[in-house]
Amino acid sequence: MKFKILLCAYLLGISISLSFAGPLLDSFKEKQQPCLIDFGNKYLQNVGPHVFYPFGGPDVTYPLLLFPNFEILTLMGLEPAEPVEGYPVALDSDALSNLSSLYRRSFFITDQMASGVRNVATIILKQLENLGATDITIQAIDGRSNAVQIKFTYNGKARMIRYYKAGLDNSQIDLEFLSTLKPFNVVLFKAASYLPHQKKFKIFRNFILENANTFVQDSTGIPYEYLKDKFTLDLHGRYLMPYKFPGGFEQLNFREYSETMNNPVLDICFGYGCKKVPTNILIATRKETVGL
Ligand SMILES: C[S@@+](CC[C@H](N)C(=O)[O-])C[C@H]1O[C@@H](n2cnc3c(N)ncnc32)[C@H](O)[C@@H]1O
Repeated sequence: MKFKILLCAYLLGISISLSFAGPLLDSFKEKQQPCLIDFGNKYLQNVGPHVFYPFGGPDVTYPLLLFPNFEILTLMGLEPAEPVEGYPVALDSDALSNLSSLYRRSFFITDQMASGVRNVATIILKQLENLGATDITIQAIDGRSNAVQIKFTYNGKARMIRYYKAGLDNSQIDLEFLSTLKPFNVVLFKAASYLPHQKKFKIFRNFILENANTFVQDSTGIPYEYLKDKFTLDLHGRYLMPYKFPGGFEQLNFREYSETMNNPVLDICFGYGCKKVPTNILIATRKETVGL
C-alpha cells in the first residue's frame, strides 16, 4: 500500500514536471517570441557575427530570437556544464522548473539554478529543440572544465554556441582568457543582477567597456553614466527604476534621459519586473569602433 502511494506520488510528480514547461512555452511562443523576432529584425540585423552574453547562464532563447544573423554566441555563468549523451535530452524536474522561469519571467534565477541544476547543457539543448534548431552536436571544449561547444542550424544558417563556467568578479576574472574570445561585436546583458554596477566587477566592466562595439542591455548591464559619452544611445521602451531594489542601482540621469525620449512602452519582457516596471532595452553603439 505504502509502495503504491509512493509510486502514484512519483508518477504525478513526473507528469507535472513534464507538462510544466508546455503551456508556458506555448504562451511564450505566442506572445513574446514574435515581439523579440520583430525587434531583432528591426534593430539588430547588422551588429556583427559574435554575440557575447556574460551573466547569460543557459539563456540561448533570447539571443537566438534577437540577433537574426549571429554566427557565434558565447555565454558565461557560474553553472556547471558538460556534454550530454543522447539527443533529444530529457530534463529532470529541477532543470524543467528553471526553464519554466525563462518562459514565465524572461530570465533564469541564479539561486534556483545553484540549488538544483547539475548541467546547464541540458537546458540549452532543450531550448534549441523548442526553437526548432536542427543538426545539433555538442562537445567539450579542450583545455577547460565546464565548457561546451554546441553546433547547430537555425533558420537555415550554421551557428555555434560556446558556454563557459567562469567567474567575472575581480577575484576570479581571467583577462587573458577573455581576450582570446575577442572580437566582441555585441555584448548582451539581461537580468545581470546589477553586477556590472558593482565595485567587485570593476575589472570586468572596464575590460568590456574597452573592447565591445555594441551593447544591448536592460538596466542591470553597464550603467548609463559609463556609456553616455563614448557611445551613441538608442533606448527602446522606458527606464523608470530598478525592480525590487529600492534605493539600489538607481540611475537618475538615465531616467532623465528616458523621460526626454518619451518612448512608447515596449511590449516585450526583458529582465526583472516584467509588466511591473516598464521594459527598457538600450542599444549603445561605440562612436569609434575598436579592433575590427
Ligand atoms: C539572474 S541569472 C540571469 C541569467 C540570464 N542573463 C537570463 O536572463 O536568464 C544571473 C547569471 O549571472 C551569473 N553570475 C552570478 N555571479 C557571477 C559571477 N561572479 N561571475 C560570473 N557570472 C555570475 C549566474 O551564474 C547566472 O548565470
